[in-house]
Amino acid sequence: MKGIILAGGSGTRLSPLTRVTSKQLLPIYDKPMIYYPLQTLLTAGITDILIIVAPDHAGDFLKLLGSGKEFGCKFTYEIQDKPEGLAQAFLIGENFIGKDAVTLILGDNVYEQDFSEEIQSFKNGGRVFAKKVSDPNRFGVVEFDENQKALSIEEKPEQPKSDYAVTGLYIYDNSVVEKAKNLAPSPRGELEITDINNLYLKEGTLDVAFVEGEWFDTGTFESLHAAIEFARDRSKVA
Ligand code: G1P
Repeated sequence: MKGIILAGGSGTRLSPLTRVTSKQLLPIYDKPMIYYPLQTLLTAGITDILIIVAPDHAGDFLKLLGSGKEFGCKFTYEIQDKPEGLAQAFLIGENFIGKDAVTLILGDNVYEQDFSEEIQSFKNGGRVFAKKVSDPNRFGVVEFDENQKALSIEEKPEQPKSDYAVTGLYIYDNSVVEKAKNLAPSPRGELEITDINNLYLKEGTLDVAFVEGEWFDTGTFESLHAAIEFARDRSKVA
């Protein structure tokens, strides 16, 4: 199992915090944001990790994270020239992924859960993790039938069919690379991870599990603040 941390994008919603640095380098209490998704992969035993960054601050990521030796893993770096969607990670990462399965985690997602079990038991298809939220229209939203079977996923719908957001950790078999190659950009000009998930859903191979514990997408001031409070409270307990 390979791992990818996608830390591209321009973080415009967090401007001016992101005017001179990358969103994923901002502090979440006592650590840079990207340490959290990195820890999620490391805890699950993933040690071969591709870090995809935007061109502007690529050098800062290298300076912060280095070769990976310090973390007991190996980092590879690639540049995403423009924020053209999460699914582009599988095109940029094609050579890195090779013939393996891959776990993608977004560089601004903070999870409490230990995903070791979910990642190590993965065989094929796709596995995503949903969480009940108060603002589903910011996310990919899963529609369920009465037996909690996923029916569809819509990206940032105006009228969400449920309160369940698809969060930023995605486990896929190797067919994700071919799936990504066949995507067309969405109306917002991005290769959407939601389109990938819908392809797996159509094949009948998408497992939609639920996030246990806290989860934060730290892309707004409110969610960034909430994640910082969470990290601070947790560090007091530890
Ligand atoms: C992206 C995905 C969305 C997902 C979210 C999780 O949104 O497009 O489906 O629910 O990450 O953090 P974006 O960060 O591009 O707004």
